[in-house]
Amino acid sequence: MEFTGQELYEKARRRIPGGTQLLSKRPEMFLPEQWPSYYSRAKGVETWGLDGKKYIDMSYCGIGACVLGFADPDVDKAVHTAIDSGSMTTLNCPEEVELADLLCELHPWADMVRYARTGGEAMAIAVRIARARTKRDKVAFCGYHGWHDWYLAANLGEDDVLDGHLLPGLEPAGVPRGLVGTALPFHYNRIDELEAIVSAHREELAAIVMEPVRNHDPEPGFLERIREIATGIGAVLIFDEVSSGWRLNTGGAHLVYGVIPDIAVFAKGISNGYPMAAIIGIEDVMQAAQSSFVSSTYWTERIGPTAALATIRKHQRDDVSKHLIAVGKRIQSGWKAAADRAGLAITVTGIPPLGHFSFSYNNGLAIRTLFTQMMLGKGFLATNAFYATYAHQNTHIESYLAVVERSFEFLAEAIEKGEVERLLKGPIAHSGFQRLT
Ligand SMILES: Cc1ncc(COP(=O)(O)O)c(C=O)c1O
Repeated sequence: MEFTGQELYEKARRRIPGGTQLLSKRPEMFLPEQWPSYYSRAKGVETWGLDGKKYIDMSYCGIGACVLGFADPDVDKAVHTAIDSGSMTTLNCPEEVELADLLCELHPWADMVRYARTGGEAMAIAVRIARARTKRDKVAFCGYHGWHDWYLAANLGEDDVLDGHLLPGLEPAGVPRGLVGTALPFHYNRIDELEAIVSAHREELAAIVMEPVRNHDPEPGFLERIREIATGIGAVLIFDEVSSGWRLNTGGAHLVYGVIPDIAVFAKGISNGYPMAAIIGIEDVMQAAQSSFVSSTYWTERIGPTAALATIRKHQRDDVSKHLIAVGKRIQSGWKAAADRAGLAITVTGIPPLGHFSFSYNNGLAIRTLFTQMMLGKGFLATNAFYATYAHQNTHIESYLAVVERSFEFLAEAIEKGEVERLLKGPIAHSGFQRLT
């Protein structure tokens, strides 16, 4: 290769505003000036940098897209067949009907399905359908749902409203000011906040939008009360399963909690690394998609639905979620045990397949950056999160936790001596949205 990962990223920052297309893939989010940044190839949980160096991914594993692991042989085989038989024509591909049937079988409450290719656009479609169905404009929401206007509108008033919703500091520049007051945030497990929104905007709410679960388990009755409120005010309940789907079960996490939305949205893990998104819902709401214009050429290509069918079938056949939960639990308890032994204060959150921890110190971000630096030196892509895949095996878990153990001991000593910042070979990582200079 002509460039090292860092050299290529320097070049990219001059050509591509923001350096990459996804905030969560910016090297600054992990280890500024040291992160490998680009890959030449990947397989299972292994990723090779441009210099040929191999890393074990114990971080976001394709930012949650690859539940089966990178370059899964079964999904890739199906995709190759789709490519060989033509991925795009003037006619439609039959796989999208087959996939619609499969999604409705897995979610018997759902009658109809639309498709897109990314999570954010699928969420925008869901909100459009809800607004079309109810003929109302406002949306009460909780959590992160992508980059589209309907969502970033929440930050038009005060620009820190979206803080606490997964990605802090999201800037709404370019979002029409006319949308002020249309996206109304509440926090997970804070039914009182939603009730306050409802009492002020009852007749205006088109939808309640949220992930059924993410960083914390729902408190008893929370999801049930949300369902009751949505029904009571005639708003569409949209569960965003872009990240929570395909982790706890084959399908949406809402099935595990037994609370049924009007629309559920899938992307990322549904197709193991190939672009695909699905909006599923009850007929009465989904038919409203016909009263608004929702249409795009590449929503009809063949690879996405083919990859989704192969991913879901393997997921179901191999009981993949059982593996994801077991691996995630081992990592979460491994973090806790290593921190306890080292005398390090950490807080662990997230459902087991989407685990996170934070260093409970004022300079927690610097400590996290040093952790990433140390893990990278031992051949691991690692930060304060671990997204489990079917490809993570005992050997990966054991070797990772052994290095975590030693790193935590080292970090505890560095904190004690006040040396964390001095030990960093580059700048401290970013924690949210920040303009690159
Ligand atoms: C819950 C949730 N919704 C929506 C999105 C946006 O999906 P995408 O990045 O595919 O547009 C994400 C991505 O992280 C997500 O986690």
